[in-house]
Amino acid sequence: MRIDLIIVRQKILHMKYRFGTESDLDLLAEWNYQLIRDEGHRNSMSIQQLQERMRGWLESEYKAVIFITGSGPVAYALYREDNREIYLRQLFVKREHRSQGIGREVVGILWKQIWSTDKRLTVEVLTANDPAVLFWRSVGYTDYCLTLEKMPKEIGEQYNYC
Ligand SMILES: CC(C)(COP(=O)(O)OP(=O)(O)OC[C@H]1O[C@@H](n2cnc3c(N)ncnc32)[C@H](O)[C@@H]1OP(=O)(O)O)[C@@H](O)C(=O)NCCC(=O)NCCS
Repeated sequence: MRIDLIIVRQKILHMKYRFGTESDLDLLAEWNYQLIRDEGHRNSMSIQQLQERMRGWLESEYKAVIFITGSGPVAYALYREDNREIYLRQLFVKREHRSQGIGREVVGILWKQIWSTDKRLTVEVLTANDPAVLFWRSVGYTDYCLTLEKMPKEIGEQYNYC
């Protein structure tokens, strides 16, 4: 009798997480800096400026979650929550750890262990950031809003919103 073996590829990540605090600001600012470059955003803030902005966010309405595997911290998510909605402002997986299922695992942990299940979940993605657009669709988010713009000649700091 012939036995067919079906081998299912399963990634076991043993991911842990913790909420970011002031002691994580150096790491979060460095990762935010890399995220801006990776997604092709026009934000020109320095790491120092990003750190101060992150400090303000964590002291007010945002929460950061840092995800850790056996390799150490590999990703972070930054979000804010109100009565009806959870807005994910930033998601970043370290460059050398991408395309290994970490982003998908992170979203699964946010959904199952951290976030309320009865709220609208939103995220904004730059239209030119194809990997992220494909990522969000693959984990179940659907297209809703497209922002259009016509820029003035001078592009100032007021557009540094990511
Ligand atoms: C977007 C990002 C978070 C994805 O994280 P990741 O760990 O690489 O993603 P995963 O390995 O979990 O991929 C999950 C699915 O997303 C899709 N995907 C991820 N990266 C992709 C890429 N480069 N090209 C096409 N599809 C991609 C695939 O469908 C993939 O499923 P598969 O592995 O079964 O093919 C990561 O690439 C990143 O940090 N990018 C830079 C920062 C950024 O753009 N953040 C998002 C801002 S909104």
